[in-house]
Formats: sequence, C-alpha cells, structure tokens
Amino acid sequence: MIEINSLRPLTGEGKRLFIETYGCQMNAGDSEIVVSIMQDNGYRYTEDVNEADIILINTCSIRDNAEQRIWGRLSAMRQLKKRKPSLIVGVIGCMAERLKEQLIEKGTGVDIVAGPDSYRSLPELARTAEDGSKGINVELSKEETYAEIAPVRLDRNGVSAFIAIMRGCNNYCAYCVVPYTRGIERSRDPQTIVAEARTLFENGYREVTLLGQNVNSYSYGEVGFPELMAMVAQISPLLRVRFATSHPKDISDRLLEVMASYDNICKAIHLPAQSGSNEMLKKMNRKYTREWYLERIAAIRRYMPDCAITTDLIAGFCGETLEDHQATLSLMREVGYASAFMFKYSERPGTFSARHFADDIADEEKTRRLNEIIALQNQLSVESNEAEVGLIRQVLVEGTSKRSEEQLCGRTSQNKMVVFDRGNHSAGDYVTVKITGCSSATLFGEEIFE
Ligand code: SAH
Ligand code: SF4
Ligand code: F3S
Repeated sequence: MIEINSLRPLTGEGKRLFIETYGCQMNAGDSEIVVSIMQDNGYRYTEDVNEADIILINTCSIRDNAEQRIWGRLSAMRQLKKRKPSLIVGVIGCMAERLKEQLIEKGTGVDIVAGPDSYRSLPELARTAEDGSKGINVELSKEETYAEIAPVRLDRNGVSAFIAIMRGCNNYCAYCVVPYTRGIERSRDPQTIVAEARTLFENGYREVTLLGQNVNSYSYGEVGFPELMAMVAQISPLLRVRFATSHPKDISDRLLEVMASYDNICKAIHLPAQSGSNEMLKKMNRKYTREWYLERIAAIRRYMPDCAITTDLIAGFCGETLEDHQATLSLMREVGYASAFMFKYSERPGTFSARHFADDIADEEKTRRLNEIIALQNQLSVESNEAEVGLIRQVLVEGTSKRSEEQLCGRTSQNKMVVFDRGNHSAGDYVTVKITGCSSATLFGEEIFE
C-alpha cells in the first residue's frame, strides 16, 4: 500500500512550526501543502503555539472583517515575540498577496510574507528570517499547482480529505478580490489527482472533496470537469466524491448527467447566486441572469430530484434598491436552498466595484437586509430538514457526536449532518439510517437493518 504523507513525530532536531488557517477550504488545503514542504525541509509541526519557533498565519482577504481578525492575531503574535525574541512570524495566503510589503513595514512584527503561489520558497524565506532579515515572495504564477506535493492531512478524522484540482480565478466578479490574490486559473494533471484520491482510499479515506475557486471550470487537455469527476468516482463505489465551489456558468448538462449516473458522487451542489436581481447580477459581472440561473436549478432537479442546493448571497451591493433586495428573497424562496452563506457587501480595494461604483448602502441598512436574508434562510433550512424526516439515507460516519459518546455523526450524500446511536460502528463506516427528527442544523436518525 502506498503511504500518505503523515505528520512526522515531534522528536529530534528541527525547528517547530505552528500554522493557523483562515478563509476558505482552498486555504485549508494549502496549509496541508505548506506543512508538507516545511517537513521535507527539517521543520516539525506542532499543535502548541507556545513551543513554536515559527508561526505561519494562512490568511483571507475576502471581506474587511476577515483582514481585521488577522491584524488582531498579529498583535497577539507581537506579545509572544516579547517572551521569545527568536520567534519567526509569517503571513501567507491571500492577505499576503494583497498587502505585500505593507505587512512587513511599520512594526507589524511580521518576518515572512508569502503569497499563494510561492510556498515552495517558504523554507528559504524562513532561513532568511532566521538570519535576521525579512523574507518576501508574492510572485503569482501561471503554472503552479503543487501537483506532486503530498499534503500532510491535518484534519485527521481519517475519513474525508480535500484535493485541490485547480487554482485561481478568471471571472473578475466586480466585488471580489480572489482573482488578484490567487492569480489566473490553472488546472492540475488529472493523473496526479486520481493517484492522490486512490492513495487516500487505500489508506482508509472514504470521501474526497475536489477543490477549486471555480472547480467546474477545470480543464486539462481533453479532460474537463465531468470527465475528471467520472475518473475519480470510478476508483471505488465506496469512495464518495464532492466538489466546491462551482460557478453557475459551468453547471453543464454533461456534468449533471455524470453526477446522476454515479451513486458515489454526492447529491449536493453549492451554487452561489449572490443576488436575485438581474440589475445587480449584471453590475456584479456574474455572467448569468436570474432566469438563466433558475433554468440551471430546474436542470439539477430534472437530473437529480433529491440533490441539495446551497448558495452564497451578498446583501447591500452598490446601488442595491429595496426591489433588488426583494428579488434576492424571492429567489431564495423559489429555489428553497438547504443552507446558505450570507454576507454584507464589503468593499475591497482595487476591485472593479471599488474603482467604479459607490459603496452607497449604509451599514445599518446592509445589516437590516442581511438579517432578513438570514431569517428567511433559517426558515428554509428548517423546511429542508423537515422534508428529510421519514426518509432512508446512507450516512458516512465521521466520528463521535459532540453531544454524547454513545452517538455517532456523519453526513448524507446531500451533505446533511445526522446524529444516531453508535451500534457497532466507527468512523469510515457507511450506515443506513432512517431520519426520525431534526433541528435547524442537524438530522436525527436510527439505524435500519435491511
Ligand atoms: N469562487 C466562489 C466563491 C468565492 S468567495 C464563487 O464564485 O462562487 C466566497 C463568497 O464570498 C462569494 O461567493 C461571495 O458571496 C462572498 N464575497 C466575495 N467577495 C465579497 C465581498 N467583497 N463582500 C461580501 N461578500 C463577498
Ligand atoms: Fe470571486 Fe467571482 Fe472568482 Fe468566485 S467567481 S472567486 S466570486 S471572482
Ligand atoms: Fe479568502 Fe483567499 Fe479563500 S480571499 S475565501 S482565502 S481564496
């Protein structure tokens, strides 16, 4: 059996590395690559920040509050440095790419700055910092995919893992900083993806999530996203396949057909709508209309009647009228989302909307609209969970439930969490469960014996 790259034990020489991760799943995946690169260069991973010789903070720039949190962490790091002057602090990820030298200037206490495409140079940057200089590399690349680096799996439930299959974004939605922090789209060789997924399966993993900023724009030679999904699904019927995040423009009939034809491709699609108003969608440069989006929803339902659909929504984008806001609420009702990530618009310097539109909805009004969206979604989430009661679902066990040692938790194909009595099961088992009840966030079930 091929080994997966595991954490080396904390013995011997080697400086100790601590890593803190913010932002999206891509960042979570990148941290696993960073630990792998650092381990290969003699660093040892530690979960205890107090014994670290080097601390890396993998950052997010998507909204202003994400960056404010990081500034707060950096001030805590300066306190740690007072106790241990040799401590090296590095900022990596999207905020590193966005702010570059600014992160080192003016007493921030930061020694290293590395953007998402320069993680291979981290050991060298760390050495520079250990010698008392500052290390910075924020070069973006057209090719870097870290394809051959075996990530060190940090989540360690041993059941489900992320595989980054593409990086970057070419869509330039008006509000979004990602194309600037992550660079242009590039896809990874499918053979390396299949090999990584197979190794995970052989090591006991039962679920892989294929990741990308626009995962369904994946394209490598003849292999598009539907073909790649089929290749990964064919590894074993016992290996579940998920993906995130997809752009509505690439939810093709071909992809839906492939999803419908494999039981182990999970019946869950995260399809960010952002707004229900055509006026806003146009200004956001989303490249679809409300009608077109709803037609794609209808197509999903045609191919997979029991597919869960989730979304992202932005409240209070530039010039959003009350009518536009109502259109978002009505879109939500029309689709009946199982769940949603909901945000207030946050202007990001350098983006198209920051340069061309006024951020003209008052913060209190943004909050009011967001609260309406959240209240409606809570209602829709409850309805979506109530519709599950009485159904029989296959659950992949992830571990012990938070509430009780006697209970396990795991997800259905639709990505809903189910809690049920342990029986003889453990993490990685598939259990057939009848859904007997729910709260707004969780389903409760009973194992059934066929
Ligand atoms: N690539 C994905 C999502 C990336 S960012 C996609 O296109 O769907 C995750 C979510 O953050 C976005 O879907 C959007 O809803 C939100 N977001 C991005 N920029 C934002 C901003 N400036 N203000 C508020 N929310 C934003
Ligand atoms: Fe941002 Fe749009 Fe790209 Fe998503 S598709 S990462 S929202 S620019
Ligand atoms: Fe944040 Fe960068 Fe992801 S801005 S959401 S960490 S791509």
